[in-house]
Amino acid sequence: MSKTLYDRINESLNYIKKSTDITPKIGIILGTGWKCSTEILDSPLTFNYKDIPHFSSPSIEGHEGKLIIGKYDDSNIICLKGRLHAYEGFSMEEVVHPIRTICSLGISILIVTNAAGGINPEFSQGDYMLICDHINFMVENPLKGSYDSRIGPRFVDMSEPYNRELISIADNSLRHLNTRPNDPRQNDFARPVPVRTGRGLVAGRVIVKKGIYAGVNGPSYETPSEVKMLRLLGADAVGMSTIPEVIVARQMGVQVCGISCITNMAAGIKEEKISHDKVLTLMKTNEKKNSTILKEIIHAFSSHPGIR
Ligand code: HPA
Repeated sequence: MSKTLYDRINESLNYIKKSTDITPKIGIILGTGWKCSTEILDSPLTFNYKDIPHFSSPSIEGHEGKLIIGKYDDSNIICLKGRLHAYEGFSMEEVVHPIRTICSLGISILIVTNAAGGINPEFSQGDYMLICDHINFMVENPLKGSYDSRIGPRFVDMSEPYNRELISIADNSLRHLNTRPNDPRQNDFARPVPVRTGRGLVAGRVIVKKGIYAGVNGPSYETPSEVKMLRLLGADAVGMSTIPEVIVARQMGVQVCGISCITNMAAGIKEEKISHDKVLTLMKTNEKKNSTILKEIIHAFSSHPGIR
């Protein structure tokens, strides 16, 4: 008899559990150019996707295909370093399998990160957007297909895909990155000063906005008319990932916090061509900020009573 989805998740899970009995509380999936490796996590234990049963390996530059378990601030963290996209030719089940596995391992919070094109004209390249909601323009839903009640409900409530409390905790903690005590300009985000924090140095300001993420199939970028349409429908940023992962995490009862790095303004907003190389270059420029942001968010969530 062929294996069920539940069996496949358990086989991936058991492979990881053979090497560790740690139950991570926070899971992270790193989007294009986001990093969270040994420099963030203590005593990291690394698995290659290619060795974990039922994991596929990413084919896109900037996505390594490693699952890392380690500690930060006394919290056990599991990090998916490498995302699978449907446009690479993976089925939706393959795309979300790593997320289903880490949700089964017992995480209570999933932090999803991505690179996205800014649609809201008030956004600029290099800003960050805490995701408050999404609009799904991807063709397939990851929950399509035969149903197994052991995984979660068939019809998943999506009225709060991104947990409001986590958004507020992340927002507060990130705003402090730009706060200089005893300085009357402490909330003046307009001055590009280096900001020192307890968890590293950020070169320049960290600008955090909130908004709605539109998920499209890709891999072609949008046309200017498509971007206009997305704006009319209420989107602030657009990308080619994240939504399937959030849907399966919510099905499995995991709370989600999402953050986009606005690597470029979406097509037609500026007279500029968009390329993956430019996306990667911006992510490289923002590398320190990205890492500081992740550390801040993990730190803020680790002290949250529901997490330990
Ligand atoms: N569109 C879609 N996905 C993206 C973009 C974009 O402009 N930038 C980074 N990922």
